[in-house]
Amino acid sequence: MSTNVEKDQVSGRETTGHEWDGIKELNTPLPSWWVYVFWITCIWSVGYWVVYPSWPTANDYLKGTFGTTNRTELHETMNNVTAERAPYMERLAALELPEIVSDSELLNFSMAGGKAVFADNCAPCHGTGGSGNPGFPSLQDDAWLWGGSLEAINETLHVGIRWDANEDTRFNDMPAFGRDELLERDQINDVVEYVLAFSDRATDMQAIDRGAVVFEENCAACHGENAKGVQELGAPNLTDAIWLYGGSKANITESVMNSRRGVMPAWGGRLDEETIKMLTVYVHSLGGGQ
Ligand code: HEC
Ligand code: HEC
Repeated sequence: MSTNVEKDQVSGRETTGHEWDGIKELNTPLPSWWVYVFWITCIWSVGYWVVYPSWPTANDYLKGTFGTTNRTELHETMNNVTAERAPYMERLAALELPEIVSDSELLNFSMAGGKAVFADNCAPCHGTGGSGNPGFPSLQDDAWLWGGSLEAINETLHVGIRWDANEDTRFNDMPAFGRDELLERDQINDVVEYVLAFSDRATDMQAIDRGAVVFEENCAACHGENAKGVQELGAPNLTDAIWLYGGSKANITESVMNSRRGVMPAWGGRLDEETIKMLTVYVHSLGGGQ
């Protein structure tokens, strides 16, 4: 200890002996409660080192007498979950879709599982709960591009839509009538008026008549004579209020001019069969299942 230690006149405390230009430092000790807490935490930490994993060693680490780690806990939880799910998964694998739907226990299991997988994989495109986004169909309504039966949904999930990597993918390309100069600008305008007329929104009555001819020759093969759509071809109904790419005159003109070619990834191989079955049951239940 320094010899400069002295008593401060004003406070009656000792100084530390440090002095800067006549300013002296009082020796103010830490409060005793603080010191006790400090020592308790030191002792506690030693106990902690003993029972929990702590210091690294040359090749490993001290495991602690309890042997707990987040990893072992995670493994245990995962094993429990897998074990609980195993009987359901086996039955999912063995049963056909209609059998799964008519078994209330399996139905509940599939709905919960399907919902979770949907949120992870499908919601970014199809919206939360399958409510749809422009260009990504709603899965909650009765309008189906490729079919809303259990079987059709299952097939769509397996092979995707316009998904080149899958050779069985659902495929049909609407021509880009404007860009590829298959129709004149006037003809496109006429046929758009014809389409608008189904929802009573046409403004030019003569154009409708001319558009009907254009439709018959260029569109009916895919969208059907009555424009109500053809599911085998993934061609949407043009007479209802549901539009994948928007139903304004400008939107419809854009669809006819440039074609849209929506792409849906194939999930076969990426998700296992049981998961695809759960998703099928979930999507089918969303409201519009056929
Ligand atoms: C990258 C975006 C994308 C993702 C991710 C995606 N989809 Fe799709 N999905 C689409 C598009 C686009 C279409 C419409 C394609 C078309 O125009 O025919 C579609 C169509 C569908 C259809 C057919 C709808 C009908 O009316 O016939 C179903 C069913 C479907 N998706 C389910 C799913 C499920 C379940 C998942 C998650 C496993 C999923 N989709 C993930 C883009 C996506
Ligand atoms: C070879 C088949 C085929 C032909 C021919 C065809 N379409 Fe399409 N059309 C489709 C398909 C498939 C879609 C869905 C496109 C997608 O999702 O990428 C579609 C989509 C549309 C849409 C968008 C519908 C929506 O819900 O947003 C409109 C509008 C449309 N077609 C109008 C026409 C008109 C008008 C013609 C004739 C000039 C025509 N199509 C000819 C197959 C066809």
